[in-house]
Amino acid sequence: MPNGIFKVTAVAVILGFILLAYVSSPVSAKNPPQGELEIFSWWVGDEGPALDALIELFQSRYAQVKVINAAVTSGAGRNARAVLKTRMRDGNPPDSFQVHAGQELIGTWVRAERMEDLTTLFQSQGWMKAFPPDLIKLIGTDEGIWSVPINIHRSNLLWYVPANLKKWGVTPPASWKDFFKIAPKLRAQGVKPLALATNGTTNHLWESVALAVLGPDQWNMLWKGNLDWTSEMMISVWQVLAGILEYTNDDASSLSWQQATDMVVNGRAAFYIMGDWVAGYLITSHKLRPGRDFGWSASPGTGGQFMFLADSFGLPQGAPNREAALAWLAVLGSREGGDTFNPLKGAISARLDSDLSKYNAYSKTAARDFGRDRIVGSFAYGVVANEGFMNDFAPIMEMFLKHRNPYKAAYAAETIAIKHRIMR
Ligand code: GAL
Repeated sequence: MPNGIFKVTAVAVILGFILLAYVSSPVSAKNPPQGELEIFSWWVGDEGPALDALIELFQSRYAQVKVINAAVTSGAGRNARAVLKTRMRDGNPPDSFQVHAGQELIGTWVRAERMEDLTTLFQSQGWMKAFPPDLIKLIGTDEGIWSVPINIHRSNLLWYVPANLKKWGVTPPASWKDFFKIAPKLRAQGVKPLALATNGTTNHLWESVALAVLGPDQWNMLWKGNLDWTSEMMISVWQVLAGILEYTNDDASSLSWQQATDMVVNGRAAFYIMGDWVAGYLITSHKLRPGRDFGWSASPGTGGQFMFLADSFGLPQGAPNREAALAWLAVLGSREGGDTFNPLKGAISARLDSDLSKYNAYSKTAARDFGRDRIVGSFAYGVVANEGFMNDFAPIMEMFLKHRNPYKAAYAAETIAIKHRIMR
């Protein structure tokens, strides 16, 4: 090839690469963000202060951006996810939205190719080393990294008021056997042994019971399709749950998780099983002192195990304010971001370098346990199961709350496990 033509071709190729790089625009926050930033989540009311603190931190760096806090109320995001689905389908995505790390993210919007790959952002912010490698795996696929984790929550927790337990002459049950021993004693004193909230949150109780009955190895086997949904073990999960429901409040279906927590605070109930956003609620909204005014332990039969979930935020393709969204994600994933949000939220930071001196007594124990316990993924909050399975599980739980038949529930669950390929 004559020299001149070679040079022209080389320049053309280089220009082509530059153009391609510009058009495909890898994720990185280059230009100072302007305009608006719409943040979509389900953190309103009692969970609002933690999000507000994070938004304040963002605004202290990007005062010129107008933040629109588009939070949709509902425990565990059921309503919010429905609204998000409609908006995504209509081609009207928010700039950044909350999603649980794990199958909830990967099995929906990543599979539908509606998210931007954030690998470049992770690299430029030094996050490949800042977050635990297993967590990065959970928010990634071979094709990219799809969201920025803001926290680690624990789901398998039992909440109580130590002074009340003393008054009633009971201690926190270490196993369900213990629970069934003390429950009649509580009932005889006019106290509900266990508070329960709206039907959706029964999935939460179910996963705590399942972890106790199965143990961590079989729990993991279940989600890899290596444990039959109709096996004796799985039948006994439903049996234990049916037994527990005998000791819960009749008005559960009309209560939010905050109202069920209030039953424990005001002495109507002895215990409540819920994630550690309860700690955030009790400290931030009720101004109670962890370890004094309220106590906690692993839910019965799950000592030494940490069932985790992580909230994260992603960048949908076609976000109207992409640069602002990238700046938001950078704040969210920073050390300061995690340590601003989580002490108010009841969670611990997802980062390995968080400053624990900023956290309350509850979160300090959570950080300790996260470092030493056996870690397993939550079902109710999208770590181990995809959204399709979770949606189909909801009516099975609804029905179970009425018929309380372990066999019916186990066989129904097997059907959806086959449908969603969580089966041998
Ligand atoms: C979960 C979320 C938590 C908390 C909880 C109750 O889905 O991960 O951060 O918000 O719902 O609303």
